[in-house]
Amino acid sequence: MARKFFVGGNWKCNGTTEEVKKIVTTLNEAEVPSHDVVEVVVSPPFVFLTLVKSLLRSDFHVAAQNCWVRKGGAFTGEVSAEMLVNLGIPWVIIGHSERRALLNESNEFVGDKVAYALSQGLKVIACIGETVEQRESGSTMAVVAAQTKAIADKVTNWDNVVLAYEPVWAIGTGKVATPAQAQEVHCELRKWLNQNVGADIAASVRIIYGGSVNGANCKELAGQPDVDGFLVGGASLKPEFVDIIKSAT
Ligand code: G3H
Repeated sequence: MARKFFVGGNWKCNGTTEEVKKIVTTLNEAEVPSHDVVEVVVSPPFVFLTLVKSLLRSDFHVAAQNCWVRKGGAFTGEVSAEMLVNLGIPWVIIGHSERRALLNESNEFVGDKVAYALSQGLKVIACIGETVEQRESGSTMAVVAAQTKAIADKVTNWDNVVLAYEPVWAIGTGKVATPAQAQEVHCELRKWLNQNVGADIAASVRIIYGGSVNGANCKELAGQPDVDGFLVGGASLKPEFVDIIKSAT
């Protein structure tokens, strides 16, 4: 079965109520390919999740940017998977490189989080990617394979997982991976999944690219056979996000 194109917008730690409403209005008024062709998920900060969910067109969905690794309880400042489910939030981003780097989230911790979120019924955008030092030392595949293995060790059903390959050196830098660089890693990841997880899963899991995607570079990236969509940061706050959604066709 063909993999449906997926476009995620990660708003990160940005926005006021007014700015959020403005982005949602732009999205609601946009003419984009149908939900049969492209799945669109936007990820506002926790505090705006219910507002965005209440205002956003029904063919687009929302994602949280993180959730706690286990059932909620005495974990000050955390938000549990159960709470997201309770609010009707269907998706969560887990393992973003900013959290891996700034909050020391290890591969194993990310794997545990993905498994717990899935067990509660959430769908997960699981992020992986190498640093510039790792790329320059030739260890890109070893790094992303280890990150993926930590997820595969805890997860058996991949139906609700989208894998986001986001090279750290491309995030927020304007230094986008070339289509060939993205395709190479996505293809290798699919081979890794084929050999280590299963042929059906390798064929069906969507592997999306993130890192300085914008309205100008999205079309060529989208044309790569193993690039099944995007996780967009900065450009998801701007009207050009609509052009990125349109790159699905
Ligand atoms: O989650 C999104 C990525 O971090 C990409 O961010 O598009 O601003 O480079 P960016």
